[in-house]
Amino acid sequence: MTTKSPTRSDIVGDDGSLRAERLQKFLSRAGVASRRAAEEMIAAGRVRVNGEVVTAMGVKVVPEVDVVEVDGVVVAPPQTHLYLMLNKPAGYVTTLKDPLGRPIVADLLPDLGRRVFPVGRLDAETTGLLLLTDDGEFAQMLMHPRFHVPKTYLARVEGHPSERSLQKLRDGVVLADGPTRPADVTLLELREGSAIVRITIREGRKRQVRRMFRHVGHPVIDLHRERIGPVALGDLPAGATRALEPHEVAALMSAAETGA
Ligand code: URA
Repeated sequence: MTTKSPTRSDIVGDDGSLRAERLQKFLSRAGVASRRAAEEMIAAGRVRVNGEVVTAMGVKVVPEVDVVEVDGVVVAPPQTHLYLMLNKPAGYVTTLKDPLGRPIVADLLPDLGRRVFPVGRLDAETTGLLLLTDDGEFAQMLMHPRFHVPKTYLARVEGHPSERSLQKLRDGVVLADGPTRPADVTLLELREGSAIVRITIREGRKRQVRRMFRHVGHPVIDLHRERIGPVALGDLPAGATRALEPHEVAALMSAAETGA
């Protein structure tokens, strides 16, 4: 409710209304009931705000601060944006339209009732972690080169890279669009004619990992993104989507700020 408190004033601002919304609107956005039915619930004395029954209609709440209960059950504040991860299979492009008519990642998403867009790009052949959101500011922060959010890939490459080649990748190689920033590179496995290497880069230039390995004479055969900053793909099956947990969204935002 719009009473004065220090926490509230931090969020709400001077006029007391910045992010406050009417209780019935909050309840309907949270999926509890339609706005009309929510008004009936309020009038019937079924709704409490911060422990107090509210029956008046003009009351406003701040979703991040006020605790709203219906019939004694706390209502989770509605999420204002959608944040998803997808395990992108090979063959899908990360644009929203493809002039060549290839499958697009949007084809893999359930019907969300909202348009989400990919955060950055993966090549059509690359598999693994792709974030999608309808939060433009969040996408911008994560993609901006200034923020250097690390991205980790598993690469299967041709041949057996020497320690010297791996060190070159770590130190930075000079590509056509300039030198690469220092990377973390670990040789995981040697196979017949190929090797598995884990590489973490802190920038996101076009086909960067492929170009880096080609530069040291070991073209990439398969590329899979495992992690973006603090968020890992885990065991999400290929082609599947899941919503990010609120703590994952918060961790990504802070990684974008600190480059962690
Ligand atoms: N680097 C690449 O070369 N391709 C990708 O899809 C991502 C990073």
